[in-house]
Amino acid sequence: MDQLNPPTRLLMGPGPINADPRVTRAMSSALVGQFDPWMTATMNETMDLYRTVFGTKNWATFVVDGTSRAAIEAALVSIVEPGQKVLIAVMGRFGLLLKEIAERVGAEVVTIERPWGTVFTDAEIEEAIRAHQPAVFATVQGDTATTMNQPLAGIGAICRKHGVLSYVDATASIVGNTLLTDEWDLDVVSCGLQKCLGGPSGSAPITISERAREVIEARAHVEAGLSDGTAGQGVRIASNYFDLGMLMDYWGPTRLNHHTESATMLYGARECARLVAEEGVAQAVARHALHGAAMAAGLKGLGLELFGDQAHRMNNVIGVKIPEGLPGDELRAALLEDFGIEIGTSFGPLAGVVWRVGVMGYNARRDAVLATLAGLEAELRRFGVRVPAGGGVDAALDHYRDNAR
Ligand SMILES: Cc1ncc(COP(=O)(O)O)c(C=O)c1O
Repeated sequence: MDQLNPPTRLLMGPGPINADPRVTRAMSSALVGQFDPWMTATMNETMDLYRTVFGTKNWATFVVDGTSRAAIEAALVSIVEPGQKVLIAVMGRFGLLLKEIAERVGAEVVTIERPWGTVFTDAEIEEAIRAHQPAVFATVQGDTATTMNQPLAGIGAICRKHGVLSYVDATASIVGNTLLTDEWDLDVVSCGLQKCLGGPSGSAPITISERAREVIEARAHVEAGLSDGTAGQGVRIASNYFDLGMLMDYWGPTRLNHHTESATMLYGARECARLVAEEGVAQAVARHALHGAAMAAGLKGLGLELFGDQAHRMNNVIGVKIPEGLPGDELRAALLEDFGIEIGTSFGPLAGVVWRVGVMGYNARRDAVLATLAGLEAELRRFGVRVPAGGGVDAALDHYRDNAR
């Protein structure tokens, strides 16, 4: 067996994207024991950096080891008791993932649904909360499957007014779109590294409000081998690995042993957040808006039609309709083979109908946008689609000229 030698790729799909070289460099740093003072100080720094990323002062801000859905599961299994009602606003595949996870947690799940490519209004959500009176409201900010960005600025306040905890999956949207956890009164928000944060998948940052923390701590049960004999309280959280109470004890001053924190993923997560803190969250969002809009202009310049309500599209993922009769997956394969560029397929009702092009993290750059448009133009022509010569690159360059920063 040979040494690993992955091909060089430009990952312009809906994630993962190419990790920032600073992140992979940080991840090759030496391992240190999990209770080494240097390690615990690095964990504390990471908590602090993610407070900046999430826009929060929540003490309970840390990373769950696992991919983005690890934090989703941790959130839902820890804040929802079996039998409690959870209302989920579903506008795409990842809303359905929340539904599935909430069902597995034993919740009584109620959904409201929107056609893929659209978002909910505050009024629709408030009406459903009033009608169903759930314990928890859960939604996705950016549903990668549809490219839509659910407005959230008013949602936290609505939830608080009705005594409901809110959970938001911001895996695809964070740092590419504005997300203000505290200002918007959101209770639990989680994400992953592999989109606009510019890292690999495998670490899932999460932030937990004091209100949600109280709910979780009311269900505290210390692991048998670590307990001082104090009885647990409330309904025990059904997962050991994803028990946010135990995770808070591990990340907090008691440093009560739980899993063995992955030093390598911690280094990666820390560097992702350090990059954002250095650039500034608002500047990072503006960068995604600039390059995402340039890509959208370029795709239109190729004569392609964009998918979904463009007024509510995430800055960082663009859905584009596959020209009628074109074998979309074959063209994607050719783009990968000839140019080393990956764009995304779609799921469910959009499979075979829409490609998804991501412009995120390290790849939210002018050269990455222009190379993708040039490659796509060439492949479209080779597949028999009539495209305006240079139409994609020109439209993107015009966008850059007119929106210089
Ligand atoms: C919005 C959203 N939520 C959740 C997930 C699941 O993430 P993971 O594959 O990292 O578990 C994804 C993955 O693409 C996503 O886009």
